Amino acid sequence: MDSLEKKILSCKDLKEIEEVRIEVFGKKGVLAVEFAKMKDIPNEEKKEFAKNLNIQKANLQKAYEVKKEELYLKHLEESLKAEAVDVSSFKYKDEAGALHPVYATMDRIIDYFVSLNFEVSEGPLVEDDFHNFQALNLPEYHPARDMQDTFYLKSGLVLRTHTSPVQIRYMQKNKPPFKMISPGTVFRKDMDLTHTPMFHQVEALVVADEGEVSFANLKSILVDFLKHMFGDVDVRFRPSFFPFTEPSAEVDISCIFCKGEGCRVCSHTGWLEVLGSGMVDPNVFKAVEYEGVSGYAFGIGVERFAMLIHKIGDLRSLFEGDIRLLEQFR
Ligand code: DAH
Repeated sequence: MDSLEKKILSCKDLKEIEEVRIEVFGKKGVLAVEFAKMKDIPNEEKKEFAKNLNIQKANLQKAYEVKKEELYLKHLEESLKAEAVDVSSFKYKDEAGALHPVYATMDRIIDYFVSLNFEVSEGPLVEDDFHNFQALNLPEYHPARDMQDTFYLKSGLVLRTHTSPVQIRYMQKNKPPFKMISPGTVFRKDMDLTHTPMFHQVEALVVADEGEVSFANLKSILVDFLKHMFGDVDVRFRPSFFPFTEPSAEVDISCIFCKGEGCRVCSHTGWLEVLGSGMVDPNVFKAVEYEGVSGYAFGIGVERFAMLIHKIGDLRSLFEGDIRLLEQFR
C-alpha cells in the first residue's frame, strides 16, 4: 500500500494519475481486490482487517486528491501559457499604403497653385443644369452640350461633367479680384484606353478689374506650371473653342517621350494636348452679374497628367484596384 501512495505522488500529469486511479480505486482495482479478500478472513479478524483497509483507502484517497489538484493546476498554468496571445509580438509586414497616383498628381497640381496664393474651393458632384451648363454659356439644346456625354439623374440634376460649375458657385459667393482652383471628381459616359466614366479635373479661375488680367498672364502662368510638372518642355497654344471662354486655346506640350520628334504616343505630331484654357466669356460674367471685370480660366485633366508622368498606357487599369499596379507607386 505504501508503494501505491508513492505511485500516486510520483504521477507527472493528469493522464498518468487517471491510469493510477483506475488501477487503485477502479472496480477491478487494488482496493477492490483487497476488500474482496474479506470473505476469506475469519470473522473475529474481519473488523480489524476492514478498519485497516479503510484507513489505507482513506490515505490513498487523500494522496490522490492532493496530487490530482496539484497536477490540474499545473496543467491549467501550462495551457494558459500555451494558448496565450501576445498582442505585442505580431509579425509586422511592410504593407504601408500610398496615395493613388491620380491623387498624388492632383496634390502636386494643387500645391503648385496654392504656392501662388490661389484659394482652393470645392463644389458638389451632383449639379443642376444652371451651374453645369447654362451659366457656362451652354444654353439648352445648344450643340456644344454634346461635347460632354452627361449622366442625367431622373430629377433633372446631372453628375457634373466638369469642374467648371465651381467657377459659377465661387463667383456667386465672392467678389473679384481673386484666384481660385477647384479640384475634384467629374463624370462622363465614356470608357476606352484614355477615358473612364469617373475622372478628375482641376479648374482654375482668375478674375480682376477689367484690363487687369490678360491672355499674356494666362500664357505665362501655364508655361511655368507645365515646366514645373513635365520638366523642360515647349508649350504651344492652339486656338480652340469652349463655350465659357473667348478666345479659347488648347494647350500642348512637346512630347515628353520623343522630345518632339514624333512617336506613337503623340500620334507622330511631336505634341501632346494637356489642357483647355481661355479668357472668360462675357456671357459667363453676365450669368453671375459681374460687371467691369476680366478673367482667365483653365481646366486640367488630372488622369491625363498622371498617365504622362507615370507612362501609364491604359487609364482603366488605375481604377481596377489591382494591388500589383498600385504597389508600384509606393
Ligand atoms: N471644362 C472643360 C472640359 O471639361 C475644360 C476647360 C476648358 C475648363 C477651358 C476651363 C477652360 O476652365 O477655360 O472639357
